[in-house]
Amino acid sequence: MRLRWVYLVFLVLLLDQLAAAARRNRAGNRIRSRNTAAAVRARSQVQPRIVSGSTRRTTSATRSNASRPRSRIVNSSSKRAKRRANRQRSANNRTTKRSNKTSARIVGGVQARIVGGSTTSISSMPYLVQVHRGSALCGGSLIRDQWVLTAAHCVSGHAASSFYVIGGTSTQNGTDGVVRTVTYAGVAPRFTTKSMNMDAALLKLNATMTGTNIGTIALGQRMPRPGTRVRIGGWGVTKEGGDSVTNLRSVQLKVVKQKVCQNAYQGSATITNYMFCAQGKNKDSCSGDSGGGAVQNNRLMGIVSFGMGCARAGYPGVYTRVGRIRRWINNTIANN
Ligand SMILES: *[C@@H]1O[C@H](CO)[C@@H](O)[C@H](O)[C@H]1NC(C)=O
Ligand SMILES: *[C@@H]1O[C@H](CO)[C@@H](O)[C@H](O)[C@H]1NC(C)=O
Ligand SMILES: *[C@@H]1O[C@H](CO)[C@@H](O)[C@H](O)[C@H]1NC(C)=O
Ligand SMILES: *[C@@H]1O[C@H](CO)[C@@H](O)[C@H](O)[C@H]1NC(C)=O
Ligand SMILES: *[C@@H]1O[C@H](CO)[C@@H](O)[C@H](O)[C@H]1NC(C)=O
Ligand SMILES: *[C@@H]1O[C@H](CO)[C@@H](O)[C@H](O)[C@H]1NC(C)=O
Ligand SMILES: *[C@@H]1O[C@H](CO)[C@@H](O)[C@H](O)[C@H]1NC(C)=O
Repeated sequence: MRLRWVYLVFLVLLLDQLAAAARRNRAGNRIRSRNTAAAVRARSQVQPRIVSGSTRRTTSATRSNASRPRSRIVNSSSKRAKRRANRQRSANNRTTKRSNKTSARIVGGVQARIVGGSTTSISSMPYLVQVHRGSALCGGSLIRDQWVLTAAHCVSGHAASSFYVIGGTSTQNGTDGVVRTVTYAGVAPRFTTKSMNMDAALLKLNATMTGTNIGTIALGQRMPRPGTRVRIGGWGVTKEGGDSVTNLRSVQLKVVKQKVCQNAYQGSATITNYMFCAQGKNKDSCSGDSGGGAVQNNRLMGIVSFGMGCARAGYPGVYTRVGRIRRWINNTIANN
């Protein structure tokens, strides 16, 4: 009798243990399967963003050829750039005689560098790097110690191996800088040279870039508020088709309302929500500054993209909105 009791208690305990084990097992399965689903979701989000996508032309038909805005890259030895500058100079002559409708947006001859700014030390912008491709020069921002964010129009159509990056120097080609080659170059999926939309590219360096006056910068999350200031630096040219400067220069510009900028560029360029604009009286970024960062409160808010001439009243400079491309940045870095 007593033995049967013991047996019964044992049986009840055993059943209880088994039930508990089964419950634990079910819970475990649920957690695992949720993880798997999330992983699958994440993977399928990641994939399409890597492909450099649409080559479809955008609404450039509305653009007047005479007043196409120019990107801010420079090739100092380019004959084409010099011919273009001459064409622009003579077109500018015509401008004064014609109505604003057809040609008032053509740039005058001489283009200043980081216009209205002043020389500065790289120690005040340690994230800023030089992106070289032969004689072509752009800026870039170190956003991880092995990754540079620059403009798509500096990178599109060129092999990663054709670039090199110099950081930690105030001087163009400065021998006090750290040099890296590029092992991967990825252009933002919606970029086209016609639209200049989503003008962003990521470069992976052959090794981490660290050292004196070298540091990464955090990404901004939203559109900088109109009226607030962004700081831009670069080694941009002193005149159209001319040479870039030796010593780093920087300038502070005021963010312009999106609508104001859209109106300013109406008929010349479409200002999309991947862009924002900034302006100063006789201040601007210019050729050779492309790809450099527009920074506010130690956050990277923009990438120098394009503008109608440089520092012209009524034509703010246009910047890629970093806050809107963070997902593409994260995914590209995670997958390469
Ligand atoms: C603009 O240029 C394109 C090609 O560069 C040409 O096909 C088109 O006819 C031009 N449009 C005008 C209005 O000149
Ligand atoms: C710069 O322009 C020159 C002359 O047009 C050309 O030979 C050279 O390949 C260009 N360099 C780059 C890096 O595009
Ligand atoms: C512009 O016009 C001036 C005077 O009309 C002339 O001297 C100059 O050569 C012109 N420049 C170009 C590039 O056509
Ligand atoms: C051309 O533009 C200037 C400045 O924007 C303006 O003062 C002038 O009245 C315009 N001329 C014509 C013919 O529209
Ligand atoms: C920097 O190096 C490039 C490539 O050799 C060259 O084209 C450019 O003129 C140099 N810039 C300066 C300021 O020396
Ligand atoms: C990266 O490239 C630089 C410049 O060419 C070179 O000095 C360095 O040794 C390279 N580092 C690695 C790890 O390949
Ligand atoms: C990107 O990744 C960082 C961490 O690596 C995370 O904090 C941030 O929220 C991510 N942003 C987006 C838009 O995915």
